[in-house]
Amino acid sequence: MLSCLHYIVARATWTLVLAISIYSIAVLLMTSSMIQREVLFLSRLQAWWLDLNNPEQFGFARNQVTPFNFTTPDNETLYAWHIMPLGLYARYKSALCQKPTGFVDDITHSLPFRLLIDNPDSRLIINFHGNAGDVGQGWRTDSYRALTDSTSNIHILTVDYRGFGLSTGVPSEKGVIIDAITTIKWAIDVAKIPTSRIVILGHSLGTAVATAAVEHYAQQGVDFAGTVLVAPFSNMENVFSTYTIAGLIPVLSPLALHPAAQKWLLSGLTGQWASDERIASLVRLSKRLRLFIIHSMNDCTIPWHHSNSLFAAAANATVEGGMEMDLLLKMKARSTINIGNGFTSIWKAESDKIITQKVVEYGHHSRILTYAPVVLAVRGAFGIDVDETFP
Ligand SMILES: *[C@@H]1O[C@H](CO)[C@@H](O)[C@H](O)[C@H]1NC(C)=O
Ligand SMILES: *[C@@H]1O[C@H](CO)[C@@H](O)[C@H](O)[C@H]1NC(C)=O
Ligand SMILES: *[C@@H]1O[C@H](CO)[C@@H](O)[C@H](O)[C@H]1NC(C)=O
Repeated sequence: MLSCLHYIVARATWTLVLAISIYSIAVLLMTSSMIQREVLFLSRLQAWWLDLNNPEQFGFARNQVTPFNFTTPDNETLYAWHIMPLGLYARYKSALCQKPTGFVDDITHSLPFRLLIDNPDSRLIINFHGNAGDVGQGWRTDSYRALTDSTSNIHILTVDYRGFGLSTGVPSEKGVIIDAITTIKWAIDVAKIPTSRIVILGHSLGTAVATAAVEHYAQQGVDFAGTVLVAPFSNMENVFSTYTIAGLIPVLSPLALHPAAQKWLLSGLTGQWASDERIASLVRLSKRLRLFIIHSMNDCTIPWHHSNSLFAAAANATVEGGMEMDLLLKMKARSTINIGNGFTSIWKAESDKIITQKVVEYGHHSRILTYAPVVLAVRGAFGIDVDETFP
């Protein structure tokens, strides 16, 4: 009897020791910047059985998507898709169907590109996706379809950062920001779309990329029609301390009990991704701003409270010298409407800057990209709809 109990205790102890050892080794491995890079970007996680140069495989109409590439100032080749709105496609479908499909060497000679640039009502979303995979992964293609429906003139430019998909190179914070700036530059210089007809859309890690790129353009005095951040995070230190793999395995949460260890580990992170600081800076620099922050309450990958931190950083920056959190929250409460279990806060600064935070009940981390609130935010940023409730 006693020996049996002894056996159980010994087994339990060994299991615990084993679990702690595996976790410790994993945490130690994370201190390697190369492994951090792999875990953060997951750029090698790709559906190799799908051919990005054959977008029909992803449910698009023949030649609705034009795959092409362009080069960054530091000589990386970035792979991108131009996606046409379906209504526009339908009007030219006979011509489009007859063209060869797949990758084009010179997109400026393609019919979809001409249709984009020749129409003064064309609008363009520049999409910065989250970590893992490529432009064709997961919910991304469904999201492009939801955004380029048959009723609008909205086109999409979506790009793979360096090291992702068919782009060259290895990702880093600095590098993927260069990629985002170059992608926007392509839209401005090559497609010649006025920035008042461009919306910047970022998801997850892409919200940090988008924020950095929009801040860069704000420094040059360039504003966009709007910026939409879906499932964002405030900065990498905060996200890593709450990040869970597949919503199950906490990466660093156990270390929260030991803040010094956590701090030491995070000090080596490849890139700080300080979106909270960048968003404050871009709010100050912008002359006109339409910023939308959207998060789902059932997002297990990045908890929605990150949106509160970003909203606070952005709202605080609309006021010279800033304000205390207490006052900020009081003012926020006054401009918040509760909708179901979620809420919408609209912060209107005296200058032409509007910051909207929308927290919705459903959508998880990625699927939300295909849901109505994101489409409505993009349409709102473009100023497409007029609410006729109160004539
Ligand atoms: C990029 O490549 C071009 C030609 O291939 C070369 O002239 C140039 O120096 C390169 N630039 C950088 C930053 O490596
Ligand atoms: C685009 O990609 C192709 C390979 O798919 C490559 O041969 C070509 O050099 C790239 N073009 C640019 C501008 O980098
Ligand atoms: C707002 O900004 C000011 C000045 O930068 C800072 O002192 C204050 O703590 C900030 N408030 C919040 C709520 O972040």
